[in-house]
Amino acid sequence: MTAIAEETASAAGGKHVAVIGFGAMGRAVTTSLAARGGPALIRTALLRPGSAAPLPDDVTRVTSVDDLIAARPDLVVECATHAAVATSVPALLAAGIDVVIASVGALGKPEIHAAVTQAAARGGSRAIVATGAIGGLDALRSAACAGLSSVLYTGIKPAAAWTGTPAEEVLDLGALTAPATFFEGTAREAAERFPKNANVTAAVALAGVGFDATRVRLVADVAGGNRHEVSAEGPFGSFHIALTNAPLPDNPKTSWLAALSVEQAILRQFQHLEA
Ligand SMILES: NC(=O)c1ccc[n+]([C@@H]2O[C@H](COP(=O)([O-])OP(=O)(O)OC[C@H]3O[C@@H](n4cnc5c(N)ncnc54)[C@H](O)[C@@H]3O)[C@@H](O)[C@H]2O)c1
Repeated sequence: MTAIAEETASAAGGKHVAVIGFGAMGRAVTTSLAARGGPALIRTALLRPGSAAPLPDDVTRVTSVDDLIAARPDLVVECATHAAVATSVPALLAAGIDVVIASVGALGKPEIHAAVTQAAARGGSRAIVATGAIGGLDALRSAACAGLSSVLYTGIKPAAAWTGTPAEEVLDLGALTAPATFFEGTAREAAERFPKNANVTAAVALAGVGFDATRVRLVADVAGGNRHEVSAEGPFGSFHIALTNAPLPDNPKTSWLAALSVEQAILRQFQHLEA
């Protein structure tokens, strides 16, 4: 049994967790928590009005933020869209409910970032950024305390994954014979121009030196999976981290690690020892 499993298995009582959105990530987290048998279970799901998404019998459907607040969950996890962060998360935070945010890229918009942080301050609650598909953010956060001279995030995906994005204006994605860089700029520019890929960029920016000082390089490769690299330098020294992520079986666009990071954030919220 892992340390997390031991702690959660020994914790008393079942915590009520609600999810916003019941797509691939919401389903994966719900199933995995249920398989653990506690101490936290997804018991409420906020869906869009008219959504026909089937829910497990023990998950209650609500279709408004007011009804979700009335259900008084111990924690809410947002697993929906960037738009849902703007429309649903501030009211929950203002009502004193902590929220784990998976659609981190939404926080690249200054007005959403401000709405979320101000609502949390008003409600005495916390907005928790899921580490998502990336790792090493603990080291980045620590190193940032002494200042960082450079942070570079490199996102590498197979060419097909970049179709329908501005990468097509720079590269003939179907004719690639070698990895090609099609974007270099700030995290803010990257989040604006490549919103579907903004989550990792935003998580790195928020943990380190912010959206304007974080540099981003996006690469189309001929093959291989989704890869993420972060390099940071500063008075602390330097580090380089590289991940290759497997997709979530239900949604090839979402990394399995991202769903696991939401599950881990839930378990961590109710642990007595944060490791
Ligand atoms: N942080 C990361 O590294 C990372 C990685 C992958 C995905 N994500 C993000 O996590 C989110 C969920 O991913 P997924 O794979 O489950 O996507 P998905 O498309 O499979 O599921 C999203 C679900 O949310 C629902 N939804 C949309 N707007 C809603 C709203 N306003 N209220 C309630 N439900 C709403 C949709 O109908 C859909 O069922 C996405 O925004 C995605 O960008 C983050």
